[in-house]
Amino acid sequence: MTSTRDADWMARALFLAERGRGGTGPNPLVGAVVVSPEGVVLGQGAHRVAGGPHAEPLALDEAREAARGATLYCTLEPCCHVGRTPPCVERIASAGVRRVVTAIEDPNPRVNGAGHAWLRAHGIVVETGVCEGAARRQNAPFVTWMLQGRPWTILKTASSVEGLVGLAGRRVDLSGASANRWMHRQRAWIDALMVGAGTVLADDPALTARGAFRRRPLTRVIVDWQGRLPTQARVWSTLSSGPVIMVVLASAVQAAPDRYQRLAAQGVQLHVHDTRDLRGVSERLGQSGVQSLLLEGGPGLQQAWLDAGLVDWVQWLKTPVTLASGGDGVPMVSAVRERLASDSTRISLARVGLGDDVLVEGQA
Ligand SMILES: NC(=O)c1ccc[n+]([C@@H]2O[C@H](COP(=O)([O-])OP(=O)(O)OC[C@H]3O[C@@H](n4cnc5c(N)ncnc54)[C@H](OP(=O)(O)O)[C@@H]3O)[C@@H](O)[C@H]2O)c1
Ligand SMILES: [Zn+2]
Repeated sequence: MTSTRDADWMARALFLAERGRGGTGPNPLVGAVVVSPEGVVLGQGAHRVAGGPHAEPLALDEAREAARGATLYCTLEPCCHVGRTPPCVERIASAGVRRVVTAIEDPNPRVNGAGHAWLRAHGIVVETGVCEGAARRQNAPFVTWMLQGRPWTILKTASSVEGLVGLAGRRVDLSGASANRWMHRQRAWIDALMVGAGTVLADDPALTARGAFRRRPLTRVIVDWQGRLPTQARVWSTLSSGPVIMVVLASAVQAAPDRYQRLAAQGVQLHVHDTRDLRGVSERLGQSGVQSLLLEGGPGLQQAWLDAGLVDWVQWLKTPVTLASGGDGVPMVSAVRERLASDSTRISLARVGLGDDVLVEGQA
């Protein structure tokens, strides 16, 4: 039987799992805690990096002989297949653990309940579903990628008081220093960042993660169907900071093959599509291992991505900047304002002050 105590220990395991954020892809975040029948923590662990040790053996190593008869709390169903490390279920059984409590089943088809079944078949008491919602949210990129074959996607936008995101053809800085630090921290764990051609033409952004440590290079994705971007755009010169993927139509490549050969020779990865189908773009990114995607702009691409049903989470950074526009203001995606209106019941809202800016975020 599960109890509040179980939820408390699971909360600790979820907290530990966060240590791996940004480092475990394509694996999930996992945290584990070994607790004695008297309620004493005997060991804890987190999966920190793909190819590195799993959370369960780390926690069991720490507990040593004391793990016999103990309970193991684990944010995800333990693995039962040989990957880069031996199966955790065998290690759990040989450690003499009496009871295993997990938050969710592993959606990986190689596990998918088989880990729980293996443990039960070996006489271990298994309970699952403790803090299930929090665990699903924590591993949303992994779960979405496993089940839908596409990246879990955040739509992020910053707006002026008037609800504008910029002025046509000109670069405008809206967010303050504190919001910029938050933005770069987010860029530090996300797998890939994506913008449309209109944004690169207007702002010429570098699209790198600055002032925050990244375990793995950040992938940048530019949707430029017609190949409108100039060869001197800053993003092409940032290949040493991580991969750059250009999403382009086959017809554009056929019209100017030399240009694309040069870009490919420079190291730009071309994702060539026959149509402007964004689900196809998203799935192709999923095939390239992108599990989490941050869609930073602009509104044209964001609206199209929303229309295609590919947005999972929305972030709206409201700034106190006023933009005196003479009709050249670029409006934010109106659906973002509607979805994040405070009276909306469809989403879980969170609001946080970042200097003079306010971040409102929630489920799409
Ligand atoms: N404040 C902020 O948070 C923020 C962030 C980023 C940008 N901005 C501002 O936003 C402005 C640029 O925004 P924008 O809307 O003009 O350009 P954009 O969103 O950067 O680019 C539009 C892209 O979406 C593609 N697209 C549009 N509709 C589509 C559909 N139905 N299916 C598939 N693809 C589709 C376009 O294709 P084509 O290649 O065929 O045109 C283009 O590549 C700039 O002023 C920039 O400063 C503000
Ligand atoms: Zn494992």
